[in-house]
Amino acid sequence: MVDEGQAVAQLLPDDRSLDALKEAAAGCRACDLWEKGTQTVFGEGPPQARVVMVGEQPGDQEDRVGKPFVGPAGQILDEALKAAEIDRSLVYVTNVVKHFKWEPRGKRRLHLRPDREEVAACLPWFEAEIAAVQPRVIVCLGATAAQALLGSGFRVTRERGQLLASTLGPPIMATVHPSSILRAADEPSRRLAMDHFIADLRLIREYLG
Ligand code: URA
Repeated sequence: MVDEGQAVAQLLPDDRSLDALKEAAAGCRACDLWEKGTQTVFGEGPPQARVVMVGEQPGDQEDRVGKPFVGPAGQILDEALKAAEIDRSLVYVTNVVKHFKWEPRGKRRLHLRPDREEVAACLPWFEAEIAAVQPRVIVCLGATAAQALLGSGFRVTRERGQLLASTLGPPIMATVHPSSILRAADEPSRRLAMDHFIADLRLIREYLG
């Protein structure tokens, strides 16, 4: 079996600036997802951001546009950040997997969750982003990011909103993925889920002072 982590390690440039990392990641073939994705969707935001927010993988629109969280989940994120008084333009936003994994369903491209090997293969890019940005805190959006960084036993429902120590350096807080709010069964549950998401983000706002 190919050691995918090592494959990315070999692609990492000597210049570890975000621009150089993004350029190198554009040609990444460390797992098979590049074959179906339109492009590598690298993180985006200020090089010295105090907060890094990390999701699962680009969605359909992100894959087309080449930027993270610009589709429907991104709109929920924008709304929640605004309510929590966090300026998105000061946040570095990225994903643990940088290609869109999907299968055709009629004319649509249906999101598929990345598997453990794909997450592991891509993770060195995220580690390099963290080393370059050196944020004060990392926020995991959803279980895929949280389990990638905090272990497969991590449960967002149980441990969301807590600042946890990590080997990456900065503490990590996990919350729900914004797309879970889009999937709420009705308007009252959507409102409740959104309020809880905003409350988690307010904790980050307070932590930053
Ligand atoms: N979902 C994610 O996890 N990331 C994106 O960039 C978009 C949707």
